Amino acid sequence: MGVGIEVRNLNAWYGANHTLQDINLHIPANQATALIGPSGCGKSTFVRCLNRMHETNPIAKVTGSVRIGEIDIYSDASPVEIRRRIGMVFQRPNPFPTMSIYDNVASGLRLNGFRNRRVLDEVVERSLIHAALWDEVKGDLKKKSGASLSGGQQQRLCIARALAVDPEVLLMDEPASALDPVSTSKIEDLIFQLKAQYTIVIVTHNMQQAARVAERTGFFLNGKLVEFDSTHKIFTNPGDKRTEDYITGRFG
Ligand SMILES: Nc1ncnc2c1ncn2[C@@H]1O[C@H](COP(=O)(O)OP(=O)(O)OP(=O)(O)O)[C@@H](O)[C@H]1O
Ligand SMILES: [Mg+2]
Repeated sequence: MGVGIEVRNLNAWYGANHTLQDINLHIPANQATALIGPSGCGKSTFVRCLNRMHETNPIAKVTGSVRIGEIDIYSDASPVEIRRRIGMVFQRPNPFPTMSIYDNVASGLRLNGFRNRRVLDEVVERSLIHAALWDEVKGDLKKKSGASLSGGQQQRLCIARALAVDPEVLLMDEPASALDPVSTSKIEDLIFQLKAQYTIVIVTHNMQQAARVAERTGFFLNGKLVEFDSTHKIFTNPGDKRTEDYITGRFG
């Protein structure tokens, strides 16, 4: 099951650049939460703080707390454990190009020490079904490489890879921005299905997409969370003038 995420007084820096300033929000379990805002406002930095990827950058710093379920990710668990529980999918599909489809999906499990063939077979199949890719690849699991798939298939392969380790949260940073409309709608359908089992955070520049998939939406501007509310409220009756200017296309 998905778990809720509680973010308190989160601040993040790259060197002297104070990229995120006092972010507070609650991301509900088993819903999709969309994050919108102009380029450079800190959306990617924010999601990277949710799975401790931000700190992999040597000039990065982070303060404040992030709880997923009962766990404070910065004090109660290791980064490796956190990244297993909180999966991530990036803007550009990044399958391991020379690995087979099967090995791509199994990679996280193998890293965690799983060797049993039957278990691996089952998880690979289940993850690919879950990512809506199974039917397209089931005959070629070990013959085809990650790189031989189309962009949209590669992105669903990356989703399958993320799901294989059984995370509670799935972070998606512009997962469909490099995809055609058909692949995009497949990813959106997928988000709908995945909500039953996972908590989803999706960064998107596409406001229709946020409106279609997310129950809640947060609007970031210059490193601050300006407004966080139900998606319906954000897009029909925002509380802040800056949100209204952004969603009506007056800037950004
Ligand atoms: N690796 C980095 N090193 C230094 N500064 C960075 C790094 N990554 C991001 N920044 C800075 O942090 C700020 C926020 O960037 P971030 O990537 O989080 O924005 P974003 O909202 O995701 O933008 P976009 O919509 O273009 O993806 C920007 O000012 C950016 O220049
Ligand atoms: Mg970004």
